[in-house]
Amino acid sequence: MISKIKKILNKKNKSKIICLTSYSKNISEAIDPYSDIILVGDSLGSVLYNYSTTRKVTLDQMIEHSKSARLGIKNSLMVVDMPYRTYRNKKIALKNAKRILKETKCDAVKLEGGSLIISVIDHLIKNKIPVMGHLGILPQSVIGKFKFKGKKNSERNKIFNDAKLLEKIGVFSIVLECVESTLAKQISKKLKIPTIGIGSSKFCDGQILVIDDLIGLNETKVRFVKKFGQIKKNISNAAKNFSKEVKNKKYPSKIYSY
Ligand code: KIV
Repeated sequence: MISKIKKILNKKNKSKIICLTSYSKNISEAIDPYSDIILVGDSLGSVLYNYSTTRKVTLDQMIEHSKSARLGIKNSLMVVDMPYRTYRNKKIALKNAKRILKETKCDAVKLEGGSLIISVIDHLIKNKIPVMGHLGILPQSVIGKFKFKGKKNSERNKIFNDAKLLEKIGVFSIVLECVESTLAKQISKKLKIPTIGIGSSKFCDGQILVIDDLIGLNETKVRFVKKFGQIKKNISNAAKNFSKEVKNKKYPSKIYSY
């Protein structure tokens, strides 16, 4: 049987790779038929808990949300973010990655960074842990405002070289977060593994968005987010209608009662 990772690799230059985040069972169930990869991202820190930074997200939080998300995933490849400081050296990274895989039954983990953490990623891969890379804006390293990456030549060279390095040691794909379009295009052309863009142009091999943003459940004004739904409004309307019917004693009528 062809592995889920092989399927993702085979899509390079053939069809776009669809990635979405999920932090829970019901969302996973809804998006699984339309996703190639479902990521339990540490963006859950800001999206669900209002944290000012993803650095506050704990390994236990990631594992609990991942266990829930897993329940709704049948076909997609499931990737879990390793939170801040859980991969600060090889030994700690391997112990935590093994725990994530064992407890959540995910297929792979994602780590933020290039050359600085290359020995850690190499160690995970040599120990049979599938890894997805993440370059460009690295939210776990940013204090304050996020700025897109690839304006200066030195920055472009660093991201380009990091991408080649990650591919060389065996990551199966790389998320490019807010990387300038022409640089994202160059990287995607150069690499044999797929790039997954977020705010990094249509030239990437796939795209990822935070599901809460794209369905209009989470309020965000980030430039790259397109709202494909109005779920918060739908929820409010349902709550409003429920409230109205309860107050008017219309609900629960006989058929909804024992
Ligand atoms: O944490 C996350 O959700 C992510 C994606 C937005 C790429 O890393």
